[in-house]
Amino acid sequence: MISIALPKGRLGEKVYALLARVGYACSEFSPENRKLVFCDERNGVRYFWVKPSDVAIYVALGAADLGVVGKDILTEYNPDVYELLDLNMGKCDMAVAAPKGFTDDMERPLRVATKFTHIARDYYERSNREIQIIKLNGSIELAPILGMSDVIVDIVETGTTLRENNLEVVTKIMPISTRLIANKVAYRFESDRIDRLTKRLEEAL
Ligand code: PRP
Repeated sequence: MISIALPKGRLGEKVYALLARVGYACSEFSPENRKLVFCDERNGVRYFWVKPSDVAIYVALGAADLGVVGKDILTEYNPDVYELLDLNMGKCDMAVAAPKGFTDDMERPLRVATKFTHIARDYYERSNREIQIIKLNGSIELAPILGMSDVIVDIVETGTTLRENNLEVVTKIMPISTRLIANKVAYRFESDRIDRLTKRLEEAL
């Protein structure tokens, strides 16, 4: 059996639909109930529904052989996994955003609100800008509105959240998309089965 950690939500459902189409359907799978584990003996697959930001943990620790996770999480936490395939879904950008008309005052450290502290630190280190990180877990856009930070480093998908809060993109840091990842030990022992699944997905994309 190959076990796959899927991010609970719309993206996970889309990836499941793709996996089902290429031969990894699971008869008992349903996003509607509260069940977290779904098995299909015939297709040799077991799915786990997990919180999107936890997928890489399940895979790195070997609780799941494969997982589906955003490049943002991979870059931020650098988990010890193999990245097998870009699924070209969940496309967005990691960006610096600020209130409209913002100008950087180089006389003092820039206050940066973000969930992605490593990405933000790396980015500003590269441009030699001294910063103060304000780590938040969500609704990051609120920080500059309340004067708690100067800028944010966050995901921008449609741009709606920024627009509706009078913020704008200052710089795009990196493009983000969803990746298929594998546990390193599972890949060593199950490379044939994992490569077959990866190839089928690749062909279906
Ligand atoms: C993400 C991100 C932005 C928003 C961007 O938040 O943090 O707030 O989506 O999307 P948009 O450009 O299409 O408006 P999420 O919904 O994951 O919630 P969060 O506030 O908990 O991070």
